[in-house]
Amino acid sequence: MKVQFTETVLRDANQSLMATRLPYADFADILSTMDKAGYYSVECWGGATFDSCLRYLNEDPWERLRKIRQAMPNTRLQMLLRGQNLLGYKHYHDDVVEKFVELSIKNGIDVIRIFDALNDFRNIRTALEATKKYGNERTIASGCISYTQSPVHTVAKYIEMCKELKSMGFDTICFKDMAGTMSPNEAENLIKGVKDALSDTTLILHTHCTTGMAYMTLTKAVACGIDVIDTATSCFSNGTSQAATETMFYALQQYGIETGLDEKVINAVNDFFKPVKDKYTSNGMISPKSMATDSQALVYKVPGGMLSNMIANLKDMNAMDKFDEALLEIPGVRADLGYPPLVTPMSQMVGNQAVTNILMGERYKAVSNEVKAYIRGEYGVAPAPVSAELQKKILGEGGQPIDCRIEDEKRTGQEFADAKAALGDLARTEEDIMSYICFPQQAEKFLKDRQAAEEKRVKYTIVEA
Ligand code: CO
Repeated sequence: MKVQFTETVLRDANQSLMATRLPYADFADILSTMDKAGYYSVECWGGATFDSCLRYLNEDPWERLRKIRQAMPNTRLQMLLRGQNLLGYKHYHDDVVEKFVELSIKNGIDVIRIFDALNDFRNIRTALEATKKYGNERTIASGCISYTQSPVHTVAKYIEMCKELKSMGFDTICFKDMAGTMSPNEAENLIKGVKDALSDTTLILHTHCTTGMAYMTLTKAVACGIDVIDTATSCFSNGTSQAATETMFYALQQYGIETGLDEKVINAVNDFFKPVKDKYTSNGMISPKSMATDSQALVYKVPGGMLSNMIANLKDMNAMDKFDEALLEIPGVRADLGYPPLVTPMSQMVGNQAVTNILMGERYKAVSNEVKAYIRGEYGVAPAPVSAELQKKILGEGGQPIDCRIEDEKRTGQEFADAKAALGDLARTEEDIMSYICFPQQAEKFLKDRQAAEEKRVKYTIVEA
């Protein structure tokens, strides 16, 4: 029996514990060691890393990827991609999605894990096709399911989703339990069910320690035949991050399960990151809150981040006395909206609507533009029908959500050309243009700073000569 590990310290652990503020310089020296660990893959890019590089770290995200690639020639490098939204929340045109995937592979990505917040697989097809088109013999397209609990999210429904991902052509399938609310019992039913239906599919489990269940859930998943688990080197594990790599390795080894990991190397990786963690704990970047276990998410079925967002909103409005009422309002709002998985941006939309309903003293007296767009079908198909009453209120009598992807309606194919023209000589590569399309303000500032720094260097060199 073999279970392999995806190490998340460079991406999800970094994102969950310290808002993705880990600069390249802080981990550069351990990459060549990590390359010998025997991981299934190292998740190092996508998610919030791209935005954070441009916005806070003054790093070119593409250059970061190329440097990691160079330092780790033997390890599969993995990224997380939000389907048609790429790394943000807006729907991009197909040609932009295709170009982004092409450049990701060209700059060093091997495994592209692709998901859609609503599990509307029309939103991940273009990214999949581009992965197949531009991929090489190392490339893996991983179809990812946003995991949630609701009356319509049954094991049978998840098996159906897995079959669909498989028939679309994905190489592996991942369950993404972003809130860390998958219980050992649920993992058992789910993984046994999927393995019975699709025995030859590589199945991956991504979960978080947020509610304290991850180790139990992962252990049960292993017993039921999971092929790959996501973990983080132990000093960057637990809290809102993943379970610890060395701990899971130790436990699995006693069962005689082969992991492919080199014990000395994974311990060396942890030793390297300990002072890095200490630095960010003492400067407050890693807060005690993100390291804590919070079982509230299990009671209310909402992710920890969504609760803190709601608390912040209510405090802003001096309405913390309405907190309990707002919490109790969430299940109803979620049901009315057709049980969307509570992952960004749906978690914010549902949380804000629940708060609004309570503060206004009437349900849906005010509805945000985002929720309206969701009901119009612009985010994709809701897992279950939106409440008829709410749909009528937003779309009018007999109004229906659109039945095509939003980008099919708005497609112009001009996004790339427009961005190129807007940047002029600030852009030197297609990668620069792509950064600008994804995060226009941050990328423009980054490219201007880069140009200014280079002009300064040229002047300095001439004077010195
Ligand atoms: Co995650």
